[in-house]
Amino acid sequence: MGGTILKKLNVEEICRICLEASVTGLGFERGLLYWIDPVAKTLTGKCAFGMSGSGLTEVNFRKRVIPLDSGDILAQVARTARPVNVTAPGTEPEYNPEFLRETGSKAFCLVPILGSEKVYGIVAVDNRRSGKPITAEHMENLSIFCNTTGLALQNAELIENILESQARYRTTINGTADAIAGLNEDFRVTIWNKSAERLFGVKAGDMLGNPLLPLFPPEEARLLRAELDRAGFVRDFAVRGRQAGTGAETNLSVTCTPIEREVQGREWSVVVRDMTAQTRLQAQLIRSEKLSAVGQLISGIAHELNNPLAAVVGYAELLARSEKPPESLKADLAYIMTNARRCRGIVSTLLNFVRQPQAHKTACRINDVIEDTLDLMRYKIEKTENIALVKELAAALPPVFIDPQQLGQVFVNCLSNACDAVAARTGSGEITITSSFADGKVRATLRDNGCGIDRRHQDSLFQPFFTTKPEGKGTGLGLVISRRIIEECGGALTLLFSGPETGTAFGIELPPAEEAYAPQCAPAPGRVTGKKVLIIDDEEDLLPVMYRMIKGDGNAAETAAPREGLARLAAGDYDLVVSDMEMGALKGRDIYEAAMKLPSPPGFLLITGDVLNPALLEWIEQNNLTCIPKPFGMDEFSGAVRKLLAVPRKREGGGKRSRRGGGGR
Ligand SMILES: Nc1ncnc2c1ncn2[C@@H]1O[C@H](COP(=O)(O)OP(=O)(O)OP(=O)(O)O)[C@@H](O)[C@H]1O
Ligand SMILES: [Mg+2]
Repeated sequence: MGGTILKKLNVEEICRICLEASVTGLGFERGLLYWIDPVAKTLTGKCAFGMSGSGLTEVNFRKRVIPLDSGDILAQVARTARPVNVTAPGTEPEYNPEFLRETGSKAFCLVPILGSEKVYGIVAVDNRRSGKPITAEHMENLSIFCNTTGLALQNAELIENILESQARYRTTINGTADAIAGLNEDFRVTIWNKSAERLFGVKAGDMLGNPLLPLFPPEEARLLRAELDRAGFVRDFAVRGRQAGTGAETNLSVTCTPIEREVQGREWSVVVRDMTAQTRLQAQLIRSEKLSAVGQLISGIAHELNNPLAAVVGYAELLARSEKPPESLKADLAYIMTNARRCRGIVSTLLNFVRQPQAHKTACRINDVIEDTLDLMRYKIEKTENIALVKELAAALPPVFIDPQQLGQVFVNCLSNACDAVAARTGSGEITITSSFADGKVRATLRDNGCGIDRRHQDSLFQPFFTTKPEGKGTGLGLVISRRIIEECGGALTLLFSGPETGTAFGIELPPAEEAYAPQCAPAPGRVTGKKVLIIDDEEDLLPVMYRMIKGDGNAAETAAPREGLARLAAGDYDLVVSDMEMGALKGRDIYEAAMKLPSPPGFLLITGDVLNPALLEWIEQNNLTCIPKPFGMDEFSGAVRKLLAVPRKREGGGKRSRRGGGGR
């Protein structure tokens, strides 16, 4: 019987067997088992045996609660852990009289169930029917039996604790984001948590008992093993891995520490952390820091270039429009103008790169933009890279409503990508660019016979900073910016197909320009003559260009350096003031404020090369000013001047002149 009890794990069952065996095995007639609740500090009825016929049912018995600190004899036995043989209950004042009434017991004995450290409960037995006395020998046997039960209960408690702590440990290990593995001395897996299953794509059932290291690339596994042999542990050891399922490369960090065990010898605990996202984020941060540094550099350079460039563009245009340009100079002049415009385009592309550019959408012809882009890049593509360019442009396409500069930027990026892809493989390269009108959309495709895009990269193409190009060659922004430009115009930029055999094709589709956009393509404003304009700038080269542009329109113009300009402004009666913004100590802002204080304020046109300054842009916006960025073309400058001169000046009072409709930007 003792053996059965020792093997049983369930407390309830052990108690029942103990009671039944005590009563029947040791020759008693009935029995009750009380259980000690150490937290509530009470004794409660747990099970009853042979009580039928008495007034006490087991259900009622289980409701019985005796505080451990009471004077009840049961509580005393629980406290002292000593058996008691009650031969004349009536004479035992401490004993619960209610219980005696209920059970009708005349004599009984109480024996504690003892574990090695505590009392689990009490067994009460009697021979009520026969009245047979309970001897010291009976008590002795019952005590031995209760002690065995105590051991069984202790075992059950220990096993329960172990199971509970195992469950807790398993939940913790499996709930950890890191892959955790236990290894035996031979580096074979003994523990494999859920994150390890996910990270390596191998189920615990397939991994347990197998070696861990073959899951890493062989060379790195060898280095890892060598480091373990040398140092006895590794911490944050960088290893490349492969993502389960997709096969994408991952960056793992492995920490492996030895666990010395007395019985099994040395074992290892291994934690593998997936660092891929973190590494990518770090790289992105570095790139964006670089980008912002590049951005600052670019905006600085652009600012410096804008002033001289404005002069080159201006003079070239003035010369070209002069009445009799010498015949011999005409071709040279055209060359200067084309290249000056190209420089202007490059500066504005650079600026667009570092700011969210304000788009100047207009109805434009996609074929013209393609031709312009090819003109810009043909030399590089055909001459330096030896790639054949094939053009299949459909005639008579409807115009699209987009900023032509930005659309050009899209083509430049797609063409550069195509060139890079062609250069990455051997054989003759070819890039085909097509345009068409189908399903109500204007379409363009760029196809190359380059290296193609790996399948696993195809979903990442349009993510910022995704690039497969070497450090310094690609920023991974080209396609992101391109898609943004196209989508802002209601169109789409998509990868049509790509593979090592087929090469790659990207498709652009744009809705045709609607009637509603027509006002955007309105003709330039008409000439306004006979007005007086004051031009203030510290760029001496630029002053004569603006002067001649205004004079050429039939208006009087005066030019001045900043201080002198401020003085003249107060003295003269001007219809319009054209002022630069950054002029050393005196700013365009001071000129503007002085102008607005005049009794009859003139119109105000701001010109600036500092087109990235957010505070300046905000000020312009707040005052609803017309501002044209340097370098500007003659049409742009004349257009702005004409618009402002067309607004009638207030002749009386000091109120601000209305500048609405001034074409502010
Ligand atoms: N025609 C193509 N053929 C093969 N791969 C391409 C092609 N176009 C784009 N890709 C792939 O897409 C990636 C992202 O292109 P994206 O233009 O956005 O950035 P990038 O060219 O790497 O850098 P950036 O354009 O900013 O200088 C490229 O690195 C390349 O791997
Ligand atoms: Mg690119």
